[in-house]
Formats: sequence, C-alpha cells, structure tokens
Amino acid sequence: MKLLNMDPRIGELAKRLAEADQAHLLQFWPELSPTEQNSLILDMEGMDFQEINGFFKSAMETTSCSKQEKMDTRMEPVPRDVLGSVTKDRDCLKAWERLGLECIAQNKVAVLLLAGGQGTRLGVSYPKGMYDVGLPSHKTLFQIQAERILKLQQLAEKEQKPKCCIPWYIMTSGRTMEATKDFFSRHDNFGLDKKNIVFFQQGMLPAMDYNGKIILESKGKLSMAPDGNGGLYRALGNQGIMDDLERRGIEFIHVYCVDNILVKVADPVFVGFCVEKEADCGAKVVEKTNPTEAVGVVCKVDGCYQVVEYSEITLATAQKRSPDGRLMFNAGNVANHFFSFSFLRDVVHKYEPQLQHHVAQKKIPYVDAKGQLISPDKPNGIKMEKFVFDIFQFSKKFVVYEVLREDEFSPLKNADRQDGKDTPTTARHALTSLHHRWVLNAGGHFIDENGRRVPAIPSLKDGTDLPIKCEISPLVSYGGEGLEELVGGRDFRPTLIIDEDGVHELVKNGI
Ligand code: UD1
Repeated sequence: MKLLNMDPRIGELAKRLAEADQAHLLQFWPELSPTEQNSLILDMEGMDFQEINGFFKSAMETTSCSKQEKMDTRMEPVPRDVLGSVTKDRDCLKAWERLGLECIAQNKVAVLLLAGGQGTRLGVSYPKGMYDVGLPSHKTLFQIQAERILKLQQLAEKEQKPKCCIPWYIMTSGRTMEATKDFFSRHDNFGLDKKNIVFFQQGMLPAMDYNGKIILESKGKLSMAPDGNGGLYRALGNQGIMDDLERRGIEFIHVYCVDNILVKVADPVFVGFCVEKEADCGAKVVEKTNPTEAVGVVCKVDGCYQVVEYSEITLATAQKRSPDGRLMFNAGNVANHFFSFSFLRDVVHKYEPQLQHHVAQKKIPYVDAKGQLISPDKPNGIKMEKFVFDIFQFSKKFVVYEVLREDEFSPLKNADRQDGKDTPTTARHALTSLHHRWVLNAGGHFIDENGRRVPAIPSLKDGTDLPIKCEISPLVSYGGEGLEELVGGRDFRPTLIIDEDGVHELVKNGI
C-alpha cells in the first residue's frame, strides 16, 4: 500500500498497525478525502493496538464454552448474614435512614450515574436520561433524578441544619457526552448548582471480528462502542474524578444506572445500612421471581462475590429452586451499588487492570474488502465490555440489601409494544402506582367519576389494570414522606398532581 507523500503522522501509525496485525484499517486510505483521512488518524492516534489485541485474546479465552459451563457449578447464593432487607429488618430502617442522612449532611456522600450506554434496545438516538415516559409533568429521567437529589439535600439539612450538597458525577461516553451536557445546560441543571455536577467520559473500544481484526464500519471509520459500564474505573482514574472526590472529602459513593424510574438516588437507608455494616462495597437487589428475567444475579463464584449476568447463566441454573420454592439465585441486581471511597481508590489504582472484558456477540455492519457496506444477518464479531460489578470480588466487606421491586425498580429498556416488559408504559405505571400508594398511606383517598371511593387494592375484574393517575414531584416528597398534611382525610379524583405549587386535580386529562 502506498502511503508516501502523505500526512507525516501516517508513517508511524501504519507501522504500529502493521506490528499489531491491523494494517487492513488503512486499506481504503487512498480513496479517502483529506477530511476523512484526518479524522481516521485522529480516531486511531490515541489507540494502543497491542493492548486491544490483548483484551481480545483474554476476553475470548475467559468466555469459552467450557468455562461457561463450569461457572454454573461454581455459583452459590448470597448467605443470609450479609443480607439486609427492607421487609425483614423493619426495626432497623429508621436508624439506617438517620445514619445515611447524617452522612449526607456532612457532605460525605456523592452519587455517580452511569449514563454512557447507547440505549439500543429503546431505539432512541439521544441519551436515555432525556427520555420522557409520558408522565403528566413530562419530566425526563434526568429531571426526576435531579429533583430527588435536591429534595434529599433539603431533608438532610433539616436533620442537621448546615447547608449540604450531594455532588453528582455523570459518566457519559463519546456517544452521549455532548447531548447530555447540552440538555443539562438548556434546563439550567434542573435547579442544581452547576459546580456540583461533574461530567466525565468513559472510553471506547473497537468491535472485532472472530479473528481479532478490528472492524471498519465505513472505509474511513472504525466500528467503536463504549467499553461497558465497568469502563467507569479507568475513567475515574484518567479523568481526575478520584482527585475531585478526595478534594470534596467524599467517603461514600452511590452508583446507579440511568434507566430505573424509581431509583432512590443516594438512598439514605441503603447508605446508612452499608455504613453501619462497615461495608466497603454493597449491592441493592430485588427478588428475581422469573428465571428468564433480564437481570443479573448477585451470588458467590468460587467464594467471591459477583454478579452473573442474565446472558451468562444457563437456563438450568436460573431455574433452580430452594426448598422454600423460591429461585435459588434470586438476588436480582438492580445496578445500584455502594462503594466506600477507599475501596474505589484501591480498585482504580490497583485492581482495574485485572478486570476481564466480557464478550457480546453482535451483528456488526462492516465494509468488505471491496468496500461494500454489509449488514450481516447473524453475529459476525464481538464487542468487549467491562461490567461495573466486576469489582465485587475485591471487596473485603461486602453486603447486599434487598428492597421491594414495586417501590424501587422499574427499568426502561425497551420501546413500547403490546404486553412489553420494561417499556415507557411500564415505567410510567410503576411510578404512578407508587405515588398512588403514597397518597393512601398518608391518609388520602381516590374517588371515581361517580364520587365513589376507589378500593385501595385495584380490582382487575373490569379488565383494566391501569393504575390511578397520580404524580408527586420529587421536590415535594423523596420517598413518600411529608404528605399527610397535604392529602390526609381528603378525596381526590385522578389525575392527581402534587408539586411545589400545591395539590391539583386534572380531571379528564389522560396520562
Ligand atoms: C444492567 C446490569 C444487570 C442488571 C440490569 C438492571 C450491568 C453490566 N448489568 O443490565 O446486571 O440486572 O442493569 O436493570 O450493569 N452504561 C454505561 N456505559 C456502557 C454501557 C452501559 O454507562 O458502556 C450504563 C447505561 O447507560 C445504563 C447502565 O450502564 O445506565 C446499565 O446498562 P444496560 O446496558 O442498560 O444494562 P443491562 O444489560 O440492562
């Protein structure tokens, strides 16, 4: 291939590519325009091809079939002594909450949002946090989370008086950074102080074919994808985030994923539970009841804590039951984790390089040797990702906290379709039905169009299982608290809205 008379940078790059057996990436070089050539160079200049080849080799080795089969025999459920539970430990909840609020009031707690995913299943071209699931307020996931942070700061200040802040670290990727930052700035950071929102970017990795060759998605562009939510740890180190956490004196970090509409950001009960147990690492779970549900399970593998992903467990193991009839591996991971600062520091500085990439086999569009764009109809290559929970194995004091699915977990994964799971409709219904229950618990009631009280437990007899339409702003209530004065002893007609301006009924307005 003739690469002479060209950009002086190309010589060095071509040499590195040849040494790494990736020289095919320049096969269309002479056909590219100067702008395309420049952008291809920029894309590849910072890449360490030998390192990427190493990732490919070890990722393929660890995910070989025989290892997968053996994994099932090495799995054990979470033992009871590390498990806290919102239902079984009712007597402790208030104390844990107080402790969590105290930590927040002392500015020791930060939240970290994983928002670098591409939302492929939902099928939108913008970051998932910008999604409006169709609530009466039309708030997006980002806004709901921001308002929960604002409210929690107020609750902590009420207990402890001085002003406090929960810094919000937001991990984006090359795919989501600009749109996310722009969205926050257009919405005035949803009322949060700009200096307490820190955006940073995770890395990207190329897709590779089964022979370890990087795939070109067009003649002048590599097929790239974010390096998984476990790309967090490398990014924390190389983007200066650990230093920022340290400078602010953060001791505890709550890490969560963007798509759970019910997420209790910086949940003081979970934080308090982990702090009281002196845990360095914790995971929130819900009971997995359906063996094929797309959630990972927290368990032990070879004596170390781990999440075994839904794509990595065999059906036979997923279906195993305990003598009480429940699934044996039922600690469903809701991507909601607690880390102490010192644990995170060790992970970033010591353990990160030991984490293996997981392999996802994908149908990856590519250009063939003739330069034709091909969309394969079966998997033709892999994407490599690290997972956020792969560091559990390094924890010295690991705890698990079980919460109720209907109160805390309704992820938005898929686009709406009839009877779809984890869709905008299911997310919207989960939130409105939680808020309905908050109103009932605070002594309020709902009446139908004939003025009759709607029974507290909705009847399915009339064929509708639609929840009562009720939305409570997080700025009014974080977790159902403080509503008695507003709703106690009163009857409401849906749609009921409770926000900073008061209590309103939007009769006839649909959700
Ligand atoms: C994730 C969990 C799974 C859990 C489920 C619950 C992981 C690896 N898996 O699965 O165990 O049961 O949520 O809903 O955590 N993200 C990035 N960068 C990336 C990829 C993803 O920041 O490169 C973020 C996404 O924006 C999202 C979160 O990580 O906030 C989870 O990603 P997603 O692909 O939705 O994970 P699931 O496969 O649903």
